[in-house]
Order: sequence, then structure tokens, then C-alpha cells
Amino acid sequence: MRVVILGSGRGSNAEALLAAQQEGQLGDARVVQIFSDRVAAPILALGPRFGVPAQFLDPGPFKTKFDDAGEERYIEAVRKSAADLVVLAGFMRILKPSFMEAFPQGIINLHPSLLPSFPGLDAIGQAWRRGVKITGCTVHRVTSEVDGGPIIDQAVVQVTSEDTLATVEAKVHAAEHLLLPAVVARLSKQ
Ligand code: GAR
Repeated sequence: MRVVILGSGRGSNAEALLAAQQEGQLGDARVVQIFSDRVAAPILALGPRFGVPAQFLDPGPFKTKFDDAGEERYIEAVRKSAADLVVLAGFMRILKPSFMEAFPQGIINLHPSLLPSFPGLDAIGQAWRRGVKITGCTVHRVTSEVDGGPIIDQAVVQVTSEDTLATVEAKVHAAEHLLLPAVVARLSKQ
């Protein structure tokens, strides 16, 4: 199963996928390409480190969505990579139905809360401010409803009286780094 990762930032989840692959823990999945919408995104540095092509692709002038030309660039590039699965790993852009229609084989997204709680931006901060005692992360299929597609799997994180926002963030990220590779490995066997 050929996996293409789209990411905008740090790339710790892309790194977790690539590390799992190196350790033989990614089932029949293979990361074949990373694309980023930010030219200076640290995720792009994973390419040379893991021997996977990693490339900035111009998304167009908007901050949170593609313009038509940007969307076309992404659709064409992902198609060229012959992706069987597109993984959004911290890709901070809302995709239009036309993008989803281009990849009926599937797009999955990782979100740092137990959806349907706390969709949208700053999910960990939202959960922290709400005072939840349990939070976590979700991998779901991407549909036109933002953070609303069918849930594939979730991992739970306990919030204790010792925690700070920073420690909850660290726990959620640690949970993500286990959950996402496990889901991709499972999907590769289906
Ligand atoms: C992750 O926590 C992911 O769940 C979140 O961005 C972070 C990316 O981290 N995604 C969203 O909030 C999407 N709505 P990373 O660049 O280190 O993988």
C-alpha cells in the first residue's frame, strides 16, 4: 500500500510512520512521498533522513484552503505518486469535496482529541480549558465535514491533577505516535 503524507509542521507523526516502517511495523504500507504546504516546514527534513522524496507544493494564496490551481497541483502530484492512501499528518488546510473525489481510495486524518469532542484548531488547548479528565486522539476518514468523517480508531489519555497543558500535549502526541502507525499498518492488511 503506497502512502502519501501531507503535513504542514513539525512532522512528528510522519516521523513515527517512517520509524515504524524502518522497524518493519507498518504492515504492507510504504511511505512513498511527503508533501508540505509550508516551504520551511520541519516535516520536509524527514525526506533526506529517511530516503523518501519530500517536497513543498504551493497551495496558493489562502491560509486555510487551496485555491483552484493549488488544489489541482496537489491532486496531480498525489496521483503521480500512485497513492493507495493519503495521510493528513498535521495538514492544516480544509479540503474541498473535489479533493476527496479525486482519491476515492481514501484519505485519513489524525486529530488531537477524542472526536466528536473538540474539532477544529487547538484541540488540545480546547480540551484543557474545558477541564476534561479524559482526552486523546482520533484517526478518521476524511469527508467534506471538517473533523467529522467516520472514526477508524482512537487512543485515550488521562488528565490528572498533576498535569499542565504542556504535559497533556506531550501525552496526546505520544498517543498519536502509536495510534497512527498502528492504524496505517492495519489498513494495509485490509
Ligand atoms: C498533531 O497533533 C495532529 O493531531 C494535529 O497537528 C499535529 C501535527 O503534529 N492535527 C490537527 O490538529 C488537524 N486538525 P506533527 O506535525 O508533529 O505530526
